[in-house]
Amino acid sequence: MPNQVIHIFPDLNALSHTAAERLTALAHDSINSESHFSLCLSGGNTPRRLYQLLTTEYRTQLDWNKIHLFWGDERCVPLAHPESNYAMAYQELISQIPIPKTNIHRIPAEINPPEQAALVYEQELHKYFASKGFNKSEVTFDLVLLGLGADGHTASLFSNDPVLDEQEQWVSAVVAPDYMNPRQRITLTLPIINQARYIFFLASGEEKRSIFRSIMTNPEEASRLYPAARIRARNQVEWFVDWSLGNK
Ligand code: 6PG
Repeated sequence: MPNQVIHIFPDLNALSHTAAERLTALAHDSINSESHFSLCLSGGNTPRRLYQLLTTEYRTQLDWNKIHLFWGDERCVPLAHPESNYAMAYQELISQIPIPKTNIHRIPAEINPPEQAALVYEQELHKYFASKGFNKSEVTFDLVLLGLGADGHTASLFSNDPVLDEQEQWVSAVVAPDYMNPRQRITLTLPIINQARYIFFLASGEEKRSIFRSIMTNPEEASRLYPAARIRARNQVEWFVDWSLGNK
């Protein structure tokens, strides 16, 4: 697949350090050239260490006044719920850094029905990007962080979901498969994710290696099976993984 880089590490800590270095470099470039950096955070647990590093070793290298935070997906749970992606980011990152509240663009997943929550977030995205002078076709996050599920999902884009064929909407309400809880979620769709300048996949753990291998070795077939294989970026997709493509 074009514009794809794989970084292989011995463990999650090393992976997170390099991801923090690369994120900081991209933030510097964006802020120097456009005076803002739009960073779309991933949910799940893998990015926890990265977020911690951004509040400690990399804290002073980032101008939080010019960094705007978004989310790739959110579970439809109360704000402080342990399964809330915002709650994890608040605990590990937002509560530890001097970022203006107006720079935090949270998915309002507590709004019912979920379709309304998706609409409200889509309006928030339009408002932000219009304020930065983008027209709809040019809209691009500077960096989107994504995780990888052992079933090949990413954000809350799951296999065989009609949302994978969405061409227009940027945000959608979805119901995750019954083996994923919470099931009701709000997710960015492929059109907006794939317009990002850079995408970092952070993937750790043996249970994800086979999906990773099939995405790398058979991208055509993987694209039919796994949402994570359908991710593209304008400049580059960078994988940060703590296993190799080896045969074992
Ligand atoms: C979510 C995520 C999801 C996550 C993967 C990996 O809200 O669940 O956005 O796509 O990134 O499931 O999760 P872990 O990092 O916990 O393995």
